[in-house]
Amino acid sequence: MTHPVLTALGLGANESGTYLGSGEWSKTADAGVIEPVNPTTGEVLGRVQASSRADYDLIVERAQAAFKVWRSTPAPRRGEAIRLCADALRTHKDALGSLVALEMGKSKPEGDGEVQEMIDIGEFAVGLSRQLYGLTMHSERPGHRMYEQWHPLGLVGIISAFNFPVAVWAWNSFIAAVCGDISIWKPSPKTPLSAIASMKICNEALRKAGFPDIFFLFNDAGTELAQEFVDDRRIALVSFTGSTRVGRTVGERVARRMGRSLLELGGNNAIIVDPSADLKLAIPAIVFGAVGTAGQRCTTTRRLFVHESIHDDVLGKLVTAYKQVEKKIGDPTDPANLMGPLNSRDAVDAYLDAVAKAKAAGGTVETGGAALDDRKGNFVLPTIVTGLSNDAEVVQTETFAPILYVMKYRELDEAIDQQNAVPQGLSSAIFTTDLKAAEAFLAATGSDCGIANVNMGTSGAEIGGAFGGEKETGGGRESGSDAWRAYMRRQTNTVNYSDALPLAQGIKFDL
Ligand code: UN1
Repeated sequence: MTHPVLTALGLGANESGTYLGSGEWSKTADAGVIEPVNPTTGEVLGRVQASSRADYDLIVERAQAAFKVWRSTPAPRRGEAIRLCADALRTHKDALGSLVALEMGKSKPEGDGEVQEMIDIGEFAVGLSRQLYGLTMHSERPGHRMYEQWHPLGLVGIISAFNFPVAVWAWNSFIAAVCGDISIWKPSPKTPLSAIASMKICNEALRKAGFPDIFFLFNDAGTELAQEFVDDRRIALVSFTGSTRVGRTVGERVARRMGRSLLELGGNNAIIVDPSADLKLAIPAIVFGAVGTAGQRCTTTRRLFVHESIHDDVLGKLVTAYKQVEKKIGDPTDPANLMGPLNSRDAVDAYLDAVAKAKAAGGTVETGGAALDDRKGNFVLPTIVTGLSNDAEVVQTETFAPILYVMKYRELDEAIDQQNAVPQGLSSAIFTTDLKAAEAFLAATGSDCGIANVNMGTSGAEIGGAFGGEKETGGGRESGSDAWRAYMRRQTNTVNYSDALPLAQGIKFDL
């Protein structure tokens, strides 16, 4: 039986995973089937027909044709298209939020929050469509005008991960659309239904208003088409969200063909709690950061550095809070629950493996540390481990699960050094009421991450800022601020309106 959440969005038990444009979904039925599993029950949610090589080629050809039209459509008109998408998402927020909770396993409020993030970035993109500003410069030559403009880039490839099955697509595709680009999406094979539903909602709104096709979708049964996508010279920008291991390959392959890539890879995010911290803020922020989305955000809090003078107090409060969370682990579509299952069986194995490694390295499990075998689905207990040092291999590694390593520190400098001493550089935070400590954390000698917060956690970034991180996180920036520039090409123009032809740098070349 088709799950009612799918029915509410007009999805059936057998869906095409390929949007070909013109309101047309591919009829391909021999390129493999993707069967997303409900992580709460282990049951298959539906069948998604994977895309064929011919589907992929048709999509790219149609996207190229669409780009020729879209790049000359005035940017504010392109913004109007995205406004309609944001409106349609508002109408379907509850249903799509439920589908994200159902298929990915995050809590219903977080599923709704993800759709809200799509709406927010849509509205940001509408405003942006009138603000794709270039600079003007003063030419060193008389009678010359010099300026730069931003032109559409072309086809944007989006490869997204299961943990944010819809918002990351919107961050990329909505901004790309107002920039004049056409996007092609390959979602995670674990969450194809959320992707299909998002495409239906947005593309129907666009078609109704007579807009051309600006969003395409394909689903790969294996990795063959995805690899071709990455190597495809017709795709000007590949925006990839996922593991550092895969992202490194994507970055290398795109660079080899001199394409552009935007990489959003792993994080190993830390919070520092200094002796002046307001624990009424710090404790819930740490718990949400570590346990929210069952520890499956790239911004999840994985390490905690607590000043030795308050360490035992903070640890005690955290363990108490974790016991409260334990009572609210369950079906993520029930809004009363705070934590759902991990997305896959593999994730449960990775969690158990990390807990075993932490113990073998001398760590103490203060709370959690086990899978919930008393029920179906991929449920685990949120876990706190103490007694490991920051350089322990398991602490250095991003395990996509709710495991928090708590460590003591004496001097702030030492805590900042430790927080920076990991390969990743996405998000970081400090809890302090001491101005000097806050500024030291934010200074050039402070956190080395793309995101650094004071008195709030590491996750839950707003769309208005640029999102991304340094080092093995990949260096890409998406979402707000001037991240749009990655989706456009810059052109410098110099116009001579004089009767002379002076050369730059005063060079003489008299014939
Ligand atoms: C991710 O986990 O891939 O800041 C993105 C956050 C969200 C985005 C996370 N807005 O936690």
